[in-house]
Amino acid sequence: MSKKILVTGGLGFIGSHTVVELLNAGYEPIIVDNLHNSELKVLDNLTILTGKKIPFYQLDLCQTDAMQTIINEEKNINGIIHFAALKSVNESVNFPLQYYKNNISSLLNVLEACQTYNIQNFVFSSSCTVYGQPEKLPVNELTEYGNIASPYGNTKKIGEEILKDFAQISGKIKVISLRYFNPVGAHSSGLIGELPKGVPSNLVPFITQTAIGKRAELKVFGDDYNTPDGSCIRDFIHVVDLAKAHVKSINYLENLNQNTSFYDDFNVGTGRGTSVLELINCFEEVNQVKLNYKIVGRREGDIENIYAETHKISNVLGWKSELSVSDALKDAWNWEMKL
Ligand code: NAD
Ligand code: WQD
Repeated sequence: MSKKILVTGGLGFIGSHTVVELLNAGYEPIIVDNLHNSELKVLDNLTILTGKKIPFYQLDLCQTDAMQTIINEEKNINGIIHFAALKSVNESVNFPLQYYKNNISSLLNVLEACQTYNIQNFVFSSSCTVYGQPEKLPVNELTEYGNIASPYGNTKKIGEEILKDFAQISGKIKVISLRYFNPVGAHSSGLIGELPKGVPSNLVPFITQTAIGKRAELKVFGDDYNTPDGSCIRDFIHVVDLAKAHVKSINYLENLNQNTSFYDDFNVGTGRGTSVLELINCFEEVNQVKLNYKIVGRREGDIENIYAETHKISNVLGWKSELSVSDALKDAWNWEMKL
């Protein structure tokens, strides 16, 4: 019998790709999303892509009865992958209460349901933002929390702390926090990808929107950093690889003893740093398009350089990134052209 996995935020960028990989691995994903940052057409495209009708609940997880509604319909949920959150760093600075409320109360409601209905396997979307600017690179999971510059980042740190406390005291809940680096790309089919609302603040959607003519010019924020070409360095991870890390995590948790508590966190990145200017050159080269860009001043709050040490996830979960930054930029461009 295949196992039901509840995917919160499953119509979003990373959630939708994870739904596909769960189906590929023989799981039965169930989606809950309030469509705050996603669209129903993602569900249609998931059906076209996978040939499966995926159960979907349009609910806000901040409502205390949302989980009850799902559980009444879906018996025997075996695990939860919790993507649902607001994710804009900038917006969180201007609307901190909205971010704390949405990201923390939805998490608490989902965890209460785990306790009440004995759902023991839980995967949490965390972020490399919890490290701030690390002193030592590549950054590993033993590194202490850094200077987190935004309410959004705080919700990830607080989320991890809540999960540690809860897992330990529960005696039975098993949790993995995945600290994503910079997820980019799209599904190679061009049917699902990132759907930024308004002006994108992330680099890759800004690049593809500039290349296609939706934006006049890409601004490169700073070329005077202490890096080889002066632009910031990030660890860009293909969203399909990232999605597979969630399947590995669920699989790992399922194979741990029942009725034991467990908490651990893992970096999910490629282990390689790519600078903003390198990424732009790579985009132009693999897609044979010219990008109109200009170097401007630094963006406030940007980290200079961060990339992941990935030994832990590779040794413990047996996961490694397989796709390259070029693959991600090809897929992101294919997605933009089909939008
Ligand atoms: P996304 O906005 O595309 O997806 C999140 C989904 O959650 C959206 O579809 C939204 O409608 C839904 N949602 C939000 N609040 C909800 C609520 N209260 N109830 C029900 N649904 C709700 O974002 P994403 O890029 O797919 O990110 C997924 C997760 O990964 C988030 O937790 C995010 O913080 C985390 N993360 C993202 C990145 C990134 O760069 N994309 C990096 C690190 C961590
Ligand atoms: C990458 C680089 C910019 C746009 C954010 C969150 C982080 C995580 C991932 C969720 C930076 C530069 C960007 C542009 C540019 N999300 N850039 N021109 O800032 O690494 O991380 O998303 O957890 O928490 O902070 O990602 O894509 O915004 O920027 O030059 O128009 O591209 O300065 O160096 P970032 P990003």
